[in-house]
Amino acid sequence: MTIENKISKILSPFPRVQLMTQVTPIERLRSISKLLNINLLIKRDDMSGLGFGGNKIRQLEFYMGEAVRNKADTILITGAVQSNFVRATAAVAAKYGMKSIIQLEERVPDMPDKYYESGNILLSKILEAEFMSYPEGEDEIGADRALHDKASELRKRGRNPYIINLGISHPPIGAFGYMLCAEEIFKQNIELDMIVVASGSGLTHAGLIAGARLLKYDIPIHGICVRRNQTLQEDRIATVLDKIEDLISKKINHTSDDINVWDAALSPGYGQISEKTLDALNLMARKEGVFLDPVYTAKTFSGLLDLVDQGIIRKNQTVLMMHTGGLPAIFGYEQKILHQ
Ligand SMILES: Cc1ncc(COP(=O)(O)O)c(C=O)c1O
Repeated sequence: MTIENKISKILSPFPRVQLMTQVTPIERLRSISKLLNINLLIKRDDMSGLGFGGNKIRQLEFYMGEAVRNKADTILITGAVQSNFVRATAAVAAKYGMKSIIQLEERVPDMPDKYYESGNILLSKILEAEFMSYPEGEDEIGADRALHDKASELRKRGRNPYIINLGISHPPIGAFGYMLCAEEIFKQNIELDMIVVASGSGLTHAGLIAGARLLKYDIPIHGICVRRNQTLQEDRIATVLDKIEDLISKKINHTSDDINVWDAALSPGYGQISEKTLDALNLMARKEGVFLDPVYTAKTFSGLLDLVDQGIIRKNQTVLMMHTGGLPAIFGYEQKILHQ
């Protein structure tokens, strides 16, 4: 089937900068396919280019589009200490000659030194981001408010800040990047039975659902919970989809059947790695030479293995797993990976 640029056309009114440097490859994972009796493919969005890549680059095309249009000189963002979004934002801000202010939240208990020093922290330091901290990891509204307070202060000093908000009440324009990614995937013209992707803020997951459904593809898009449990995440994805419809003034016509969310891989919680997470990370590296990160993609793969065990992924089905990046966090989690 050929796909015209339907999603690109729908999104054309929204400001966007070009950050993606290539159509990311889809590769076959031969050894793991054999092991699991399925046809496992991986979409290498870890290779999305700028600043160590990952899924946030596609999302940032739209946030930066707004920031550039508004002639912002400073970008503010909040996230976990080893947040990839924060690091990717600092990299993109650097590219556009803007200052970045990153607020790091205490979301993960009992972490060793490297968590606070290496991985994404090290990269953000190289990028000369200004650091702020927020004591609560589960207070999206409060974390956003702290950014808005900082932005008010900056405006009083004559600066022009742009905030990338975390809370669910804000327009999820980052999801547009994954609506475009859906178009990119279907143009790669491979018959797929399903897609499996990490579901955190939900913008990647909901963006893929919105893109696929607008293109009239009805394959299941399974979201693996990395942040919240199934019930909370289902609500979140539904909310993001509703908000996308409002923004683009078009119906996606989604129902609860479109929202497939699984939380077996989440335990013991966001950013905490279990033996299962580590096994998934090691299996992918040792069978395929592909690295996964401990917070998002190893959990996604662990969730995928669970779907095979449950019979939701059946023999010989073709499954596309999204590699959403996050690799610098491997170094922030060094002690946990080596001594779990
Ligand atoms: C590497 C990686 N994968 C997946 C996700 C989840 O994406 P989303 O927040 O769009 O659900 C994130 C979010 O921070 C991430 O950094």
